[in-house]
Amino acid sequence: MAKAHASFVCQSCGAVYPRWQGKCEACNGWNTIAQEAGAKDSVPAAQRTSRKGRAFRLEPLAGEGEEAPRTPSGIKEFDRVTGGGFVRGSVLLLGGDPGIGKSTLLIEAAATLARAGKRVIYVSGEEAIGQVRMRAARLGLASAKVELAAETNVEDILATLKDAAPPALVVIDSIQTLWTESVESAPGTVTQVRASTQALLRYAKRSGAAVVLIGHVTKDGLIAGPRVVEHMVDAVLHFEGDSGHQFRILRALKNRFGPTDEIGVFEMTGEGLREIENPSALFLSDRHLGSPGTAVFAGIEGTRPLLVEIQALVAPTALGTPRRAAVGIDPNRLSMILAVLEARCGVRLSGHDVYLNVAGGLRIIEPAADLAVAAALVSSLSGAALPGDAVYFGEVSLTGAVRAVPQAAARLKEAGKLGFTRAVLPELGRAEAAEGLKINALATLSALVAEIAARSPRGPRRAADLGFTRDR
Ligand code: TYD
Ligand code: MG
Repeated sequence: MAKAHASFVCQSCGAVYPRWQGKCEACNGWNTIAQEAGAKDSVPAAQRTSRKGRAFRLEPLAGEGEEAPRTPSGIKEFDRVTGGGFVRGSVLLLGGDPGIGKSTLLIEAAATLARAGKRVIYVSGEEAIGQVRMRAARLGLASAKVELAAETNVEDILATLKDAAPPALVVIDSIQTLWTESVESAPGTVTQVRASTQALLRYAKRSGAAVVLIGHVTKDGLIAGPRVVEHMVDAVLHFEGDSGHQFRILRALKNRFGPTDEIGVFEMTGEGLREIENPSALFLSDRHLGSPGTAVFAGIEGTRPLLVEIQALVAPTALGTPRRAAVGIDPNRLSMILAVLEARCGVRLSGHDVYLNVAGGLRIIEPAADLAVAAALVSSLSGAALPGDAVYFGEVSLTGAVRAVPQAAARLKEAGKLGFTRAVLPELGRAEAAEGLKINALATLSALVAEIAARSPRGPRRAADLGFTRDR
């Protein structure tokens, strides 16, 4: 057998170096490089060269395409995100912070599938069998015929899986605890995680089972260490939410067989995860009506409209450079809206700290949120509460114009369903507007600022002191 040699591998991105260095040139991470024993050469050199290539048939581009064979998980929100459930013969990675509910979600999916008569195997490398049983009992799933194991060795797991009828689903909790004898480095290192994933990928393709890997996430939001795994698997889902909220959001980051823009919304309860079919109602459930600085944004996530409250706090600063902080929204987007308010609408914000928050721990990436963000900011600055029955959407351009956004009708329909009676939107979106809402179509951001400032309880004069130069 050839000698295994040591190499230095970046634990974040998997780049290999001949010697140690402080910074990884591939991913710019510091102190991420660690020494690992290399892979053993399992095929002798003589054998490796003796195999001649086999010619294969090339296929035309036109022809029958086939749908990926799927097994619905039985959890509607999960199926929505994956595009219809587990794909046979594929590997799916579920990432998320520790304690967010990954194991809970998958034991629920496993039990649902087992109850539908499918063979399901759950391998836990993190918890003892007793702990998994306790969780299942708490969730009321103990009677489901899920086959359990607490194992971490890949060879043992594969030998067990090969023994009997191929399962429909294999859950591995978590990929970071697995180790294979084919490489010598410690469990959790990039080399181990990569080799284990490769072995499971081969198993999935050969057996037709759907394999789900659970992966932990590092503090900067990447699937811990093994970003390499993200490239190898067929789909990457991310389970997110913050510990202060009971909402959990399932998002697809990559999906070879389905969409990547759908979200699934869950609520963590004492009896496990509850699916939320109408997330807007949940995200708006604890609004404080009548307080300045909040605006309801009518957004779209994937194909689904989603209403969410945007909260702003604008307060005089005590610092030379005012603070700008944003949670749930891109800080660059916030800076842009602040600049447009200042330059095009005469709202002076340079002497104010600005804090922005998206309620419920949601993350918004749509530019359509611009108008709601601007409305919340101006409302907080002027002290004028926005009408509680109004929704806002529209993109703000650098010129100060309010631009149309897609799917205005779907946004308005959702707003109408939830009892909103007014909508503030771009002039060009008016054509689509129906649904019995009172429409306030704006061409420019200045029009919105003027409307809100006129409602300021401090009166126009005091509002001018605060930074509204209305006669500009
Ligand atoms: P878990 O699924 O173990 O998280 P992960 O596998 O992502 O690390 O979930 C752990 C958290 O969920 C824990 O803080 C307790 C909470 N939880 C509930 O609130 N209700 C429940 O029914 C269950 C099973 C867990
Ligand atoms: Mg877990």
